Amino acid sequence: MHTAKTLRTIPTAARVHRFTYAIRNIVAEAQKVEAAGKRVRYLNIGDPVAFGFQTPPHLVDAVERAMRDGHNNYGPSPGIPVAREAVAAEYSKNGFPVTPERVCITAGTSEGIELALSAIVDDGGEVLVPMPTYPLYTAVLAKLSARAKYYRLDPNRRWLPDLDHLKTLVTPDTRALVVIDPNNPTGAVYPNDTRRALLAFAEDHGLVILADEVYGDLGFDGPVAPLGLLDPDAAIISFSSLSKAYLAPGWRTGWMAIGRSPRLDDVVAAVKKLADGRLCSTVPMQYAIAEALTGNRSHQIAFRRDLKARANLTIARLRAMPGVTCVEPTAAFYAMPRVALPPGRTDEDYVKALLHSTGVLCVYGSGFGLPAEEGFLRIVFLAPLDELSEIYDLMAGFTAEYLS
Ligand SMILES: Cc1ncc(COP(=O)(O)O)c(C=O)c1O
Repeated sequence: MHTAKTLRTIPTAARVHRFTYAIRNIVAEAQKVEAAGKRVRYLNIGDPVAFGFQTPPHLVDAVERAMRDGHNNYGPSPGIPVAREAVAAEYSKNGFPVTPERVCITAGTSEGIELALSAIVDDGGEVLVPMPTYPLYTAVLAKLSARAKYYRLDPNRRWLPDLDHLKTLVTPDTRALVVIDPNNPTGAVYPNDTRRALLAFAEDHGLVILADEVYGDLGFDGPVAPLGLLDPDAAIISFSSLSKAYLAPGWRTGWMAIGRSPRLDDVVAAVKKLADGRLCSTVPMQYAIAEALTGNRSHQIAFRRDLKARANLTIARLRAMPGVTCVEPTAAFYAMPRVALPPGRTDEDYVKALLHSTGVLCVYGSGFGLPAEEGFLRIVFLAPLDELSEIYDLMAGFTAEYLS
């Protein structure tokens, strides 16, 4: 028999309240709109497969073969040797020499980020995170009882990091600098002088750089070199995955590569120790890594071309909307327009009103750490051109009314 006492709600941990991830949180709102009978166009998640881009068949074959060949056992916790060797060879070829022993295969870039932050940052530790940011960084830091200190990316300078602002944020508790390049949510690629300045800043303050390079192959004009190319001895940990440039986000397969600097030897050991606790990442999918990095990449040429065409349409259509401005992206599949909001309105008000009125779902800039009154939002422009064009018609009509 249940007494009133046993029926009490089971309490949840305080950390859950600190953990926010706007990209998925907004979906609950969209589902309400859908339940009311309206078609929703989901432009919130950067998943190319959801928009019809196909995983290259040779990668699917590699995974299927691995399963049929019986590779369904647990693997080594840092990854199977052939995958670690392929990742090390890829970075080394691109000018950032790493050895297979310093590569860890992870459940996407996401797990790499969580492992690295867990290995490096104590309770109360601080990490310099871009604003706008990819929200996983702040979510994981909140879970670790650590602090994200936001450094501004400047929309008036093509979303490049504001180095003067960055310099004001360092304290004795600062542990790491997150650099997302090519960037989500802005679509920016950093020029070498900016990259050198970030390296010099991290060096001066003894910080490790967490280089999120998951869009490295998706510069519209070709692959973007890893940050480590500019200084192979810098304290850099690079992250990437099969999710974006290899069109397999659902496989949850990625990697982290820890630079050769002996200053990072303890970090290598710490990451491996933590990785032991989750046994391994998905084993059959790891067999696709070598195929991806050493095999045919012609799909990327077509993908980059398609992305550039979508970016061009996006920019032209957004800039034609009165009250809307947008920095042109040069990589990946995101644009970060700004709507000149009436006083008192927030980015979330605009995004929710757009959703309810048109079914178009974007993510508000404050979900990426920006001030809500600045009126930024992120658009994922992976839909086919004709559908994007319809979406921008809807957005233009709605925005004209909203701002009038
Ligand atoms: C900047 C950035 N980092 C990491 C991730 C996570 O990717 P993965 O699927 O490799 O975990 C994403 C996904 O959108 C991203 O945009």
